[in-house]
Amino acid sequence: MPTVLITGASRGIGKGFADYYAAEGWRVIATARNPDGLAGEALPLDVTSDSSVTSLVDSLAGEPIDLLINNAGITGPRGSGVGNLDYDAWGEVLAVDAIAPIRVAAALADNVAKSERKLMVFISSMMGSIGQTHSSDSILYRSAKACLNQAVNVMSHDLKSRGIACVLFHPGWVRTDMGGAGAAIDVKTSIRGMTNVITRLGIKDNGRFINYDGFDIPW
Ligand SMILES: NC(=O)c1ccc[n+]([C@@H]2O[C@H](COP(=O)([O-])OP(=O)(O)OC[C@H]3O[C@@H](n4cnc5c(N)ncnc54)[C@H](OP(=O)(O)O)[C@@H]3O)[C@@H](O)[C@H]2O)c1
Repeated sequence: MPTVLITGASRGIGKGFADYYAAEGWRVIATARNPDGLAGEALPLDVTSDSSVTSLVDSLAGEPIDLLINNAGITGPRGSGVGNLDYDAWGEVLAVDAIAPIRVAAALADNVAKSERKLMVFISSMMGSIGQTHSSDSILYRSAKACLNQAVNVMSHDLKSRGIACVLFHPGWVRTDMGGAGAAIDVKTSIRGMTNVITRLGIKDNGRFINYDGFDIPW
């Protein structure tokens, strides 16, 4: 039975991944800042905290993880632009969206390397694509996801030597607390699309940035 570990599994897309893989018969390790009430195997994880990440690694005791899904994310205050930038909030968005996924991936690289699938998925956003940005909105979030994209790109060259493939996804504009009620697709559609693609991923896909429907996204 393959094992998947998901960050930010308390709600939204992270919960969608947990429900999907549980229904498929995988061993699901759902992590959240507050894991109370989560179904199945649930462990506490604040992705921005070194000690929380270390406790998670210790409690896994070297067990293989086939698929690591770095999903946890925040947008920070919306509407920031030149003239009203909240630099403290920007630091928080960078900490959660760009630095934390690398921290978690580095800490769990040994667990992933000893698994069958050896796959790390990072939930980024189309809003992190520099080539697709023709807008002045969401500078905090867009820049944090662009930073994540480059950090994963660089890390993918490193982890490839251990047989690990790293792939970035845009999940679509999804109806969650973050995406809002007016978003284009529901969580099930996003998860169905991404899991269809994930099933076929291997080392040949290392370093790709993929839309939930399988099409590559320009950086
Ligand atoms: N929804 C969209 O349209 C959309 C589009 C593009 C990309 N994305 C990306 O998809 C991912 C999931 O988004 P979503 O729409 O499901 O958002 P969401 O409904 O707001 O859920 C965000 C999740 O991240 C967790 N989280 C936040 N900070 C955390 C931390 N420090 N440690 C651990 N967990 C933390 C939250 O946990 P708590 O419950 O503890 O707060 C929650 O489980 C994010 O990376 C987001 O940027 C979403």
